[in-house]
Amino acid sequence: MSGKTVIVTGATGFLGRQVVKEFNRRGWNVKGTGFTRADGVSILKVDLANASEVEKVLDEHNPQVVVHCAANRFPDKVDADPEGTKKLNVDATRSLAKLCASRGILLVYISTDYVFPGRLGDAPHETDAATGPTNLYGLTKLEGERAVLDESSGVVLRVPVLYGPAESNAESAVNVLMDVVLGVQGPGANSKAVKMDHWALRYPTNTEDVARVCHDVAVRYLEDSSDCASLPRVLQFSSEDRYTKYEICQLFGEIMGLNIDKIEANTQGNDPAASVQRPFDCKLSTRALRELGIDVGTQDFVGWWRREARAFRK
Ligand SMILES: NC(=O)c1ccc[n+]([C@@H]2O[C@H](COP(=O)([O-])OP(=O)(O)OC[C@H]3O[C@@H](n4cnc5c(N)ncnc54)[C@H](OP(=O)(O)O)[C@@H]3O)[C@@H](O)[C@H]2O)c1
Repeated sequence: MSGKTVIVTGATGFLGRQVVKEFNRRGWNVKGTGFTRADGVSILKVDLANASEVEKVLDEHNPQVVVHCAANRFPDKVDADPEGTKKLNVDATRSLAKLCASRGILLVYISTDYVFPGRLGDAPHETDAATGPTNLYGLTKLEGERAVLDESSGVVLRVPVLYGPAESNAESAVNVLMDVVLGVQGPGANSKAVKMDHWALRYPTNTEDVARVCHDVAVRYLEDSSDCASLPRVLQFSSEDRYTKYEICQLFGEIMGLNIDKIEANTQGNDPAASVQRPFDCKLSTRALRELGIDVGTQDFVGWWRREARAFRK
């Protein structure tokens, strides 16, 4: 669909980079925005907390679609700066949704499986399942969803934990486990065992696949723009690959031919008396996407890591 323009927020980030790549590959005119890492040339520097900056960029580039990836999503950063997180994840999302609505721009908002409490027996979650985030990050993302749904005719796309091409492994809660496996090797390595969660179920999904789905959703919703009201407002995408974090470490150890004896499986689930209950299984149903005819296939987790692991062996 060449001739169309998309603006991707968070284009300097882990997911946004792949979204930019995918729309470029499909012949769109793509403008990425970032903040601290934006060079101002290939990626525009736009503070999303500043509505007039956002307005200016929308009016200058006149996109048909905005894919909103920018968010504060690192739990430690969220907890350290709840006000700043709310400003970006909720208030800036609301302001962007209003600006998109008044210009007839389709907004695709990236959300998370952490909007669900992930209690035992609840999975898989349909798009209309009861939400109930257990942490501040999930709560601000859910409030961002509500802002998009209230202020615009945009669409929410929930995704689970992501892995994929990274500038550094720390960008992803999955890629970073490769650093854990590498970190327990050799005589210089920390002699203390590292405890790794072997309780909560995760569905690592590749950023390249999410980017492809963002593109397909944009095309589908633009095609049907005269009848957008009949299309679902909340969509979910997820791989079927299911692992605990410990199982991912086991897999990385096997792929790299490395011993993970110093990584200890932690099977301790929630303490029922604790005030905060961690999600056990936030599995997202992809039914709504399938009903739209959008391909929910993903790359094979093991296959992807077998290929990529070469880079870590250098
Ligand atoms: N990563 C995951 O496992 C995961 C899982 C589920 C859902 N998600 C969702 O997917 C989306 C993308 O996540 P990600 O992993 O790509 O995040 P990320 O790598 O942390 O990137 C965050 C992006 O937000 C930008 N940003 C931060 N503050 C900004 C501001 N004030 N104005 C404009 N831009 C600002 C950053 O720009 P600079 O770096 O240039 O400052 C960066 O491009 C998020 O909505 C997240 O909630 C992610």
